[in-house]
Amino acid sequence: MIIAQISDTHIALDIPDADRRATDLALSIADINALDPLPDVIVHTGDIVHNGRQDEYAQAAAILANARAPVYVLAGNKDNRTALRETFAADGYLAPNLDFIQYAIERYPVRLLALDTSSVGNKGDFCPERLRHLAGLVAAEATKPIVVFAHHPPFVVSEGPEPVHFESLEVMSELSTLLRRSGRIVAVCSGHVHRSVSSELEGIPAIVAPSIATALRYGSYPPHMRQKPTYYVHRIDPVRGFSTETRVAGDA
Ligand SMILES: [Fe+2]
Repeated sequence: MIIAQISDTHIALDIPDADRRATDLALSIADINALDPLPDVIVHTGDIVHNGRQDEYAQAAAILANARAPVYVLAGNKDNRTALRETFAADGYLAPNLDFIQYAIERYPVRLLALDTSSVGNKGDFCPERLRHLAGLVAAEATKPIVVFAHHPPFVVSEGPEPVHFESLEVMSELSTLLRRSGRIVAVCSGHVHRSVSSELEGIPAIVAPSIATALRYGSYPPHMRQKPTYYVHRIDPVRGFSTETRVAGDA
């Protein structure tokens, strides 16, 4: 199974960088569309838009609609759950009776679990209700491997100024313990940090995708790459396990 992961597009309309952010996303989708083989899915790990506005979501959705593979989205701290839900409701995978944007995708050989780690502030949170809901999602199927997606990394990030991206270390540790104990999670994929990070959660590959928005991306990139968005292609193979390739969009 092949999963393209994009993150932190921060689509905005009324700022000097607006066109560039839209172009960064469009270039990424065009690059994914040209991959052979085509990824089975595209997962956007949140901060789709910058101000939670409906018109920003409309622009993001219009660009994402060009994707040849199905797109699944997560909520980041900059997203507005109501506007996000309204924008992507027609795709049918967001549970309408749940306060959070948290769901499982079951139609592939690998289960995809999308977590809602958003809180009122910039950092992540995971309340008992979300924890119970996640435990139910994990327990609902007992044979397939699982890839978990969460906007805020539920693991310590050694690169960058802050190692913990949750409001409380205790909450992050409750979440990571649940993930680790399931025994079937093959990778945890996040965003939020806007830089490329490869880590592990007690033996489980744990990675952070850089922001698609090139002007908001951290890390050292050579001059010819500074205006080229970068995203990840994850491959899950029954024999070779989990691997991640970094793609530079617009290189072709
Ligand atoms: Fe972000």
